[in-house]
Amino acid sequence: VPVTIVDDLKKGSVLAAKQIARLIRDKQAVGQPCVLGLATGSTPKTLYAELVRLHQEEGLSFKNVITFNLDEYYPIENDALQSYNSYMHRHLFSHIDIDPGNIHIPNGELPKEAIKQHCADYESKIEAVGGIDLQILGIGNNGHIGFNEPGSSIYSRTRLINLENSTRLANAYEFANISQVPRLAITMGISTIMKARKVILLAWGPAKAPVIRESVEGNVTEQVPASLLQQHSDCAFIIDTAAAAELT
Ligand code: F6R
Repeated sequence: VPVTIVDDLKKGSVLAAKQIARLIRDKQAVGQPCVLGLATGSTPKTLYAELVRLHQEEGLSFKNVITFNLDEYYPIENDALQSYNSYMHRHLFSHIDIDPGNIHIPNGELPKEAIKQHCADYESKIEAVGGIDLQILGIGNNGHIGFNEPGSSIYSRTRLINLENSTRLANAYEFANISQVPRLAITMGISTIMKARKVILLAWGPAKAPVIRESVEGNVTEQVPASLLQQHSDCAFIIDTAAAAELT
């Protein structure tokens, strides 16, 4: 996997935003939609702030952009403060000119018996718009991408999964306490992510250094889901020097 090492998350976020903006404008120039796969969590916050700035100050339009988010807690109300749905509106969608009909986020509000169909429909919708052009990823300390925890199959599709306790602990800061963190989530699968034409994984800070080393230099294994990206033909990591500290 090609790795770009930047001084800090601000520089890495600006670099990723430039690549996204170029893709959006290239697609606009030929009258095509631009399909983005998006992540949440702390990692892409500065990227979204930069995309908002490009919209507000440099005229970048999102009118031709279609988005699919990677994941959502289950169960959770869409407008709960901690939902990835409200995160996306707060950090990006409320500040840009995207058509609300072009936004897709797994729905954490559905009754359990409706989830299977919802997940199948999510895959169909991605296929119906021609697939994801560019997928943005963060990485969990255990190597998860989306919420594909270790052991997720390379063939997995969008589905309901159990969150590891380490993941719930890592995300507990968003909730009143760990018992409030949902035990389940809906996530795109590894195969859904691998089908994206281009993938950019972002990682900042020293806590990610061990898993970055495993993902970039370790064996390709379902035990470290991000290591599977070594088999993607157009995947790049943009990481800061702290996250790169354990690369040899
Ligand atoms: C979020 C997601 C997760 C996060 C990962 C890292 O949509 O898919 O894989 O990217 O848990 O989270 P942060 O960025 O909070 O360290």
